[in-house]
Amino acid sequence: MDDVTDRRSDGKTAAETAADPAPYYRRHVFCCVNERPDGHPRGCCKERGAVRLRNYMKARAKELDLADVRINASGCLDRCELGPTVVIYPEGVWYSYQTPEDVDEILQTHLVEGRRVARLLLQPEDKGPIAEVGRAKAK
Ligand code: FES
Repeated sequence: MDDVTDRRSDGKTAAETAADPAPYYRRHVFCCVNERPDGHPRGCCKERGAVRLRNYMKARAKELDLADVRINASGCLDRCELGPTVVIYPEGVWYSYQTPEDVDEILQTHLVEGRRVARLLLQPEDKGPIAEVGRAKAK
């Protein structure tokens, strides 16, 4: 995947060209709602409430009139131990979230204000389980 932090002065990444069409959505949010059988060693986002959280996010985004933001359910994003997980493009910023309050903060801070929710961010080097990730210890 391209490093979206490596933007040129025209706002495009090195892999984008002037011929690319404009993005259809300003932001595209993928919420993992993958389900695995009980007892699977990696667990899954669905068993940790991902469907409820994703549905809440979609409803709140509509209430906030975020018409240029798409909230999609996704299959496994392969960071299962850190779930429920969500990734927002084009930034490629990941969060682990657990409550409706976390959803509200992601919507307001990231999608409305364009900032980051530091306490929920996942770093590329973060591996599961979530209890071992630094930010979870800081809660
Ligand atoms: S089950 Fe959600 S990231 Fe794999």
